[in-house]
Amino acid sequence: MPEVQPYPERVKICCLGAGYVGGPTMTVIAKFCPDIKVTVCDLNEKRIAAWNSDSLPIYEPGLKEVVDESRGRNLFFSTDIDAAIRDSTIIFVSVNTPTKKSGVGAGEAADLTYWELAARQIAAVCNASDDKSPKIIVEKSTVPVKTADAMAQVMAASCLSTNLQVLSNPEFLAEGTAMDDLFRPDRVLVGGAQTPQGLAAIDYLCKVYRRWVPTEQVLTMNLWSAELSKLTANAFLAQRISSINSVSSLCEATGANVAEVAHAIGVDTRIGPKFLKASVGFGGSCFQKDILNLVYICRSFGLPEVAQYWHQVILMNDHQKNRFAKKIVSSMFNTVSGKKIAILGFAFKKDTGDTRETPAIDVCKALLQERAQLSIFDPEVSREQITVELGQEEMELVETPGDVNASCAGAHALAIITEWDVFKSLDYQRIYESMSKPAFIFDGRNMLDHDKLEEMGFKVFTIGKGKKQPDIDDS
Ligand code: NAD
Ligand code: UGA
Repeated sequence: MPEVQPYPERVKICCLGAGYVGGPTMTVIAKFCPDIKVTVCDLNEKRIAAWNSDSLPIYEPGLKEVVDESRGRNLFFSTDIDAAIRDSTIIFVSVNTPTKKSGVGAGEAADLTYWELAARQIAAVCNASDDKSPKIIVEKSTVPVKTADAMAQVMAASCLSTNLQVLSNPEFLAEGTAMDDLFRPDRVLVGGAQTPQGLAAIDYLCKVYRRWVPTEQVLTMNLWSAELSKLTANAFLAQRISSINSVSSLCEATGANVAEVAHAIGVDTRIGPKFLKASVGFGGSCFQKDILNLVYICRSFGLPEVAQYWHQVILMNDHQKNRFAKKIVSSMFNTVSGKKIAILGFAFKKDTGDTRETPAIDVCKALLQERAQLSIFDPEVSREQITVELGQEEMELVETPGDVNASCAGAHALAIITEWDVFKSLDYQRIYESMSKPAFIFDGRNMLDHDKLEEMGFKVFTIGKGKKQPDIDDS
């Protein structure tokens, strides 16, 4: 049996990638393990400067308080990646893994360029260092199954002298609730090689998590299961949304109400109530990219039927986003040209400023194609960010007054894209009076009191609510 090289008693951690995952996850490790030095690194100097300032680079409720608690004590943000790698035993890699834009697998496969560059840098630093103690490389990014194998080979090719164990430790946090998800995760997953050194590495990482996560929730398994579990979890979550969204069309056609159907099926403990909210469509940086990645992997392994099955989840989501935009146009007498439409919310969900793959992009672009004039309001998304998503040219027809009531004033319609709580408590009576008539509301999140709005005079359109059924007495 090969001898196991021990890992040091004193744990030191670094993370490559200070984004939506690297920043919050490392902050929480630093909070619960004040004796562990945690350094978060990034190539992006501006991002690191923001992490070191009072104005953090991402908006996440509760994050700032935890950063303030640990930063400078045992939590550090730095651009000196080499030094952090040299100094640490556990090296998390939490870099972006977007969908490939060109070459083989373009539009589906994961682009592992950033991951591979990070792996090469780790190997080069270890190779040049006099310290030959073993290190653990942790895949925090979401990657295709078998990535750990490829990365281990890449690193071994340039660094034979240091034992580098690759573990898979996918992250399940959701934006907007990241702190709660990290404080009380449903589970922490750690996959690794089932060899003596691999098992020692798994145990070393698990001990860190066990400081605040109950032991039975820290799951260990082989590498490939851990990598595939992450893609599968996102595919299942997105599938539930596409499933209920598909039913929402049927509800509209039949007079059923999707909220009632979701409740009725969700109380079945085998189905459960979560992730059954019909909406304008799911967004975010991961669902689409991870499913496309899964589709690509299935195809690569000669499983076209499986690939097609999962691809339908994306097609249904595209359909839902298009359907919403089309409904706005058709309800407003088939033309929105020159009409002002207030877009309430641009982020892909509430409590985040993240706009990656937000359904707002599809809806706004479709309305702009029809020459509508948009007035966009989101409490956390700047005009600059909206411009990045829609393109400079499109912004000619877009205003962003920075005040929700100003966005609504004079509008022919309001379209709710993001379920920000603040949209629930607006003075809709006042807004109605300030709008052009007939005044329309398209509630893409089914979050408002539709009966009340109709009483005020609004023409209300929702997702998945069929036309009101006549009372039995009326028939
Ligand atoms: P992000 O784009 O916010 O952050 C990635 C960061 O990595 C960027 O700041 C980039 O500059 C940096 N980077 C790239 N190459 C680097 C290198 N070689 N060295 C140092 N830094 C480098 O991405 P994110 O949202 O944090 O996602 C990261 C990974 O986590 C992705 O694989 C994603 O699928 C996965 N994930 C994301 C979420 C989420 O909610 N955003 C949740 C779970 C998993
Ligand atoms: C999702 C998963 O929930 C996380 O577990 C995972 O770690 C993460 O992806 C990832 O890998 O990046 P996130 O995208 O941040 O997290 O947010 P979700 O709460 O999952 O929402 C995703 C999208 O689905 C949003 O646009 C949201 O509005 C929409 N959604 C969600 C619905 O339309 N209906 C629902 O019932 C739930």
